[in-house]
Amino acid sequence: MRMYDIIMKKRDGGVLSDEEIGFFVDGVVDGSIPDYQSSALLMAIYFRGLNAHETAVLTDRMAHSGDLVDLSAIHGFKADKHSTGGVGDKTTMIVGPIVASCGVSVAKMSGRGLGHTGGTVDKLESIPGFRVELSPEEFVRTVNEVGICVVGQSGNLAPADKKLYALRDVTATVDSIPLIAASIMSKKIAAGADGIVLDVKVGSGAFMKTLDDAVRLAETMVAIGEKVGRKTVALLTNMDAPLGRAVGNALEVREAVETLQGHGPAELTTICRALAANMLFLAGKGDLHHCDQLAREAVLTGAAFERFKMMVTAQGGDPSVLDDPEKLPQARMLHRVRAPKSGYITHIDAEKCGVAAAMLGAGRQKKGDPIDYAAGITFTRELGEQVEESFEFARFYTADEGRIPEAERLFLEAVTISEEPLPEMPKLIFGRVSAEGTELI
Ligand code: URA
Repeated sequence: MRMYDIIMKKRDGGVLSDEEIGFFVDGVVDGSIPDYQSSALLMAIYFRGLNAHETAVLTDRMAHSGDLVDLSAIHGFKADKHSTGGVGDKTTMIVGPIVASCGVSVAKMSGRGLGHTGGTVDKLESIPGFRVELSPEEFVRTVNEVGICVVGQSGNLAPADKKLYALRDVTATVDSIPLIAASIMSKKIAAGADGIVLDVKVGSGAFMKTLDDAVRLAETMVAIGEKVGRKTVALLTNMDAPLGRAVGNALEVREAVETLQGHGPAELTTICRALAANMLFLAGKGDLHHCDQLAREAVLTGAAFERFKMMVTAQGGDPSVLDDPEKLPQARMLHRVRAPKSGYITHIDAEKCGVAAAMLGAGRQKKGDPIDYAAGITFTRELGEQVEESFEFARFYTADEGRIPEAERLFLEAVTISEEPLPEMPKLIFGRVSAEGTELI
């Protein structure tokens, strides 16, 4: 078999055989296929697509390209969640403890942030002492004892994805539906959970800019999950604006704590409850309405917050910072961002906000860069609210004063202030995709 022929076949719109896809994935992992040929095939796939069978085979081969996490020693149903990437998305720190406190195990591997999107692992590491690198034995023991553990991705999980993602990142082939679906689902399948809830983001801060594309991506991923025997549901959620009022690692931990204590922002609370309810539903805890009530009660009774504290303690973190968030890393500089004119906030571009927060130190410009856990942005006025010229509507936190002017220029570009208020608030959840079909709300 020759890589040249595989590239030519896809370039001309052909359908790849299982063997050809296997040859490609094996060659990527063992290094026998040079990057220029892999990149050429990725570009051919970008333009020609993959059919459902090709996508499923690619996913399966990528999932099996490295270690498969063995969760068989964890009692009962194991639920997982995954977000397709966003700004201000701290849902794992809220949803995981809710679900665990309702008696369903959450054994979760999360990623680090890159570019404008944040990563749960970085957020958790802003808690002093918190360890995200546990041995497989510690991971399993923690889930059995506490019901939840969130760790970084193990080095050899889906290595084919690691290589292909890095190539896609530099060859403008990231936003291809079959390639995103295979990338996400290969990692989820290798991570071993019985049920997977996907949070597919739609909007300016997401990979999928339109609802139609997000539906196609969600349907593709749900079909793959179900095909390999994992119960899979996807929610389509809004990522036109950042989620919640805080963007930045320690700032987001603080907001997650507030939400677990029942006084977080309304839209963040709504999305977290919906994700948690769907995880409980997949675990067989009742119908969706009942599961929604379970999720609500877990917050009201304080059980979910207690579970988060248990998880932090079990993973070496200092749980006292959750009762006293002033003990989280604090920025040296606070800069108040003032409204350039009076009006209503009618749009907040999530991607630009994410880049501005990264400039202040909350994110990396490239892999491996250090992060300032205290850095980021909080909104003191939200989407839809009125602002007065020269009054504060957001705050910047940073260690480096010199970064403020550039971040502020970009941030002010991200926020639209209009004379007229929004006719209605944008939808938070656009729909749900499951094995039974797609329901748009
Ligand atoms: N997240 C992933 O893990 N892979 C993609 O391709 C896109 C988002």
